[in-house]
This record gives sequence, C-alpha cells and structure tokens, in this order.
Amino acid sequence: MLSLVAFPIAAYLTSAAGQAVPYYNPRLTGGSMLTFQNEPINIIVSALSSPEALTDRGLVNYGNALGYGDDCLGIHLGGPQAANLGDGNSWVNQTQMMREDYGSTPIGTCLETLIGGNHYRVFRQNGTLANSGALFLAASKEDPITEQHNIVPDGYNVGRDQVVSEATSGVVSFSGVDYTTTVEWVTGLLPPGVEGEGNGINHNISIDGRTAVFTITASTVDSGINCKGSSLCGTLSVASCDAAKAKIVNTTIYRTDGDAPATGVCSGHCGLFVQGTNCRYDGYTMVEAYDEIRAGSCQKCGSKRYLDGCEITMNYVSSC
Ligand SMILES: *[C@@H]1O[C@H](CO)[C@@H](O)[C@H](O)[C@H]1NC(C)=O
Ligand SMILES: *[C@@H]1O[C@H](CO)[C@@H](O)[C@H](O)[C@H]1NC(C)=O
Ligand SMILES: *[C@@H]1O[C@H](CO)[C@@H](O)[C@H](O)[C@H]1NC(C)=O
Ligand SMILES: *[C@@H]1O[C@H](CO)[C@@H](O)[C@H](O)[C@H]1NC(C)=O
Repeated sequence: MLSLVAFPIAAYLTSAAGQAVPYYNPRLTGGSMLTFQNEPINIIVSALSSPEALTDRGLVNYGNALGYGDDCLGIHLGGPQAANLGDGNSWVNQTQMMREDYGSTPIGTCLETLIGGNHYRVFRQNGTLANSGALFLAASKEDPITEQHNIVPDGYNVGRDQVVSEATSGVVSFSGVDYTTTVEWVTGLLPPGVEGEGNGINHNISIDGRTAVFTITASTVDSGINCKGSSLCGTLSVASCDAAKAKIVNTTIYRTDGDAPATGVCSGHCGLFVQGTNCRYDGYTMVEAYDEIRAGSCQKCGSKRYLDGCEITMNYVSSC
C-alpha cells in the first residue's frame, strides 16, 4: 500500500499545540530525512504507537524482540551519525544504535562486526518545533569488518526491508512485552536514487525513496503473581534476597535460551531467576518483578508469570 503523507502547515501548527500526530515531515521545517552523513532515514516509528514502545528502554526492548542488541557491549563501532528532524534541535547524534544479534548472548552483537549484518540508528523527534515523539530509524546492512564495514550493494533498501520483515513476522516479545507492528509505506519523504538532497547518498548507493512507517502495539501479558516455592522458603532471610536483587544489572539479559544461559542471580540461599523455555528478560524487569513479588502477599518465595511458560521466580536454592 502506497500513500503520501504530508501535513499541511495548518495541521502542523494545530498539532504542535498538543494533538497527537504520527510524525512531522522534517523537510517542512528545515530538517532532512538524510543523516548528516547522507544516509537515508528509512523507517519511522509513529508516535501513535504504544507509549512504552517509544521510551529509551522501550526502543531497546523492541529491538531485542526483533533480534537486535544494544550495539556491542558499549563498544561503539564507527562514529555516531546525526540527524536534523526539523524539530528545532538542529543536528543531534543518534540516541541508540541497534545491531543484529546473531549469538545467544548479548555478546553476539559483537559478532556482527565479523560476519556483517543489519543495524539501525535511532533518532527522536522531540524538539519544540515538531514535538511528535516519533522515532526515526536509519537502517542499513553492512559488510564484514574485513571489508571495511561498508554498506552492501543496495544495503539501505535491503537493511530497511529486513527490519520490516522481522517487525511484521507476527507477535514478537521480549521481557514479557508482546509487540505487533503494522507498516504503511510512504513515498515523498526521501528522494529516490543516489542524488540525496544535493550531496549524494553515502557510498553512492541508490535508494528507492520509500519510508516504512511502523505503528507498534505493545501489550504486557501478565498473568499475575503466585507465592509458590520450596518448603525451605521459611528459612530464607529477606536480607539475602535483597542482596541477590542488588546483583542484578539492569541492562543484562537474563535468559533460558541459547548456549550460555544466564538465568539469574543469587545470594546465600535466595535465587532470583528466569524460568521457562526460551524466556528472556532484561534486568529492569527482574528488579520490578522482585519488587512486585515482595510487595504482594508473598513472604519471600514467589513468581511473576508473563508469557505462556515464562516467569521470574524467587525461590530457595541449595547453593549459589
Ligand atoms: C556527536 O558525536 C561526535 C562524534 O563522536 C562528537 O564529537 C560530538 O561531541 C557529539 N555531539 C554531541 C552533542 O554529543
Ligand atoms: C529528546 O530526546 C533526546 C534523545 O533521546 C533526549 O536526550 C532528550 O532528553 C529529549 N528531550 C526532551 C525534552 O524530552
Ligand atoms: C554513482 O552511481 C551512479 C548510478 O547509480 C553512477 O552513474 C555514478 O557514476 C556513480 N558515481 C560514482 C562517483 O561512483
Ligand atoms: C534498575 O531498574 C529498576 C527498575 O526499573 C530501577 O528502579 C532502578 O533505579 C534501576 N537502577 C539503575 C542503577 O539504573
């Protein structure tokens, strides 16, 4: 489905007064759909998506659900790019870089640099001149590092299309959040071909000029707390459970899938861990589950259940 979305200036002014819009066309207010480095911004996450998909944590979690990791353990490969989204903030460096995660652990994102792969940079349109809250993504597919980390032939269209196919493959989930994505294709935002906006597209790679606009619906499948646990739960000290909680790293992925599962943390005899098949949660969610289990009627042991078969559990463990 092709459609041209253009917001007349009147609508833009009205919307700037607080009405929700999917995004503003940066080019109407002096911005660009190309990064400063002349790479196309070829995906927009509509501001009409569920709010939790648009936060910093939400955009990483959504990327995780699509199979992307938060760059390479903080080792940023290549410099950041900048975008001017016409929102009055002028050129702003990317908020996030998400890389295809081939491996079963977060370190897998580093492998992308060896074998090539897909990635996208994220920019947020939130300046006062065009404060939509939409996310603008520049997706592309790269060659292996042995080939200078360059974009592959047709790598902008190919990179975008790969993210689109991952996003629309059905319901994807991470950290107990289910995401459904619909896509609308928009022309007229990006100039097709290799001309860019006068400076030429980076690497002289032609683009088809289409932008994929995602509307993401996020829902948390939470089937509640139970207080089940070992018969030895009564012997646990709350202090040891708190000490286990303190070991959680918010940005670490605790998981039961893959070759090297890191299912959780423990201290003394208190364990806090993920249970189920192919379950993956970030540390933030582990901490929140701990707090909810403790805030509920459970004394010490208990579980928070999310997706079918996945739960975060606090229980007595024989050894740490
Ligand atoms: C943007 O990134 C460049 C390159 O790393 C850096 O020199 C510059 O200070 C950054 N700008 C801001 C505002 O952080
Ligand atoms: C706008 O988004 C940027 C990038 O995510 C963020 O650093 C900044 O705090 C946001 N500004 C406001 C006013 O929310
Ligand atoms: C850029 O690509 C166009 C066609 O895609 C080609 O005609 C032109 O020669 C290329 N320019 C350079 C500098 O490679
Ligand atoms: C870790 O995540 C929890 C839950 O969202 C939050 O309360 C806590 O402040 C975070 N800790 C750090 C160090 O950011």
